[in-house]
Amino acid sequence: VSLKKYNTFGINAIAKNFCEINSIEDLVVAFQLSEYPEKFILSGGSNMLLTKDIEALVLHINLKGIQIVSESQDDVVVKAMAGENWHQLVLWTLEQNFGGLENMSLIPGNIGTAPIQNIGAYGVELKDTFVSCEAMEISTQKIKNFSKIDCNFGYRESFFKNEGKGKYVITSVSLKLTKRNHTLNTSYGSIDVELEKNGITNPTIKDISNAVIAIRQSKLPDPKILGNSGSFFKNPIIPINEFIAFSKNYPDAPFYKISEEEYKIPAGWLIEQCGFKGKRFGDAGVHKNQALVLVNYDAATGQEILDLAHEIINAVYVRFNIRIFPEVNII
Ligand code: EPU
Repeated sequence: VSLKKYNTFGINAIAKNFCEINSIEDLVVAFQLSEYPEKFILSGGSNMLLTKDIEALVLHINLKGIQIVSESQDDVVVKAMAGENWHQLVLWTLEQNFGGLENMSLIPGNIGTAPIQNIGAYGVELKDTFVSCEAMEISTQKIKNFSKIDCNFGYRESFFKNEGKGKYVITSVSLKLTKRNHTLNTSYGSIDVELEKNGITNPTIKDISNAVIAIRQSKLPDPKILGNSGSFFKNPIIPINEFIAFSKNYPDAPFYKISEEEYKIPAGWLIEQCGFKGKRFGDAGVHKNQALVLVNYDAATGQEILDLAHEIINAVYVRFNIRIFPEVNII
């Protein structure tokens, strides 16, 4: 099976053995198949770069369902199965007037991968609404419940990317959303400018979602049209002493203060300064509107994208003495 349509980068890697997981039972059975000792979990394929064919048995997680598990006058807990598309869930919550996910509109990928890297955009992260998730422990095939604390979320980080790596398959996620008195977050990434442009002074959560969608569409390529995996790199976080030296040399550089000790520098800016924005090498390239996003014009191999990524990492290091790291999983 070609995995081209199963990964948003559109890399034409081949799965020697492929099966669709439509129930928890399927998942348990699949992990008991001794003829395939190695398994490879494929969800929305939105945060991976496939650099080779996959020998392991590929399990495509297609668990579906969204349900309300509890509610009060003010809020509601919604449980979504791992194979649901993230943005479809966001749209569903907005139809019910449930608040909390509007700033995370249009993030590619499925529910099951959202906790792994604690997805986030426009000032809001998954952890802000996260209650718990369920995951199958691979060694025992038992379903376990993970609280927010268990998940140990950080910036594009979690337990599942560290100690828990390769040990679990997330099967569902539960989120707590507001039914009224929504907390609106319009200050980040020019959402307010976008609202103003449309004459909206008293925005609803749907207005915020629409503004985020408009901003994202203006900067980020649609994976259905141009293969990509969103931000390829994480924004580097540097200690204050390095930041002071950096900002002396580059007083116009954008930055976010994380704490008294740490500052985050947008990798997109660093990469653009190195001259990569909009550059194309064969079918691998750097997006013209957002240098943090690497793109596949059609037939790039994962290795070609990876080579470009290394070239960028080196150039940024030589120029700024700052190390940037991939955000996507390199397979
Ligand atoms: N910038 C440049 N040149 C570029 C890109 C950005 O100079 O080519 C500058 C911008 O002008 C701005 C700053 O960098 O001053 C930040 O840019 P932007 O607001 O576009 O956000 P980002 O830091 O590049 C992060 C997330 C995105 C998320 C946006 C909005 C990471 C790694 N990326 O990008 O997440 O959508 O903020 O919240 O944290 C993703 O994870 O896949 C993703 C797209």
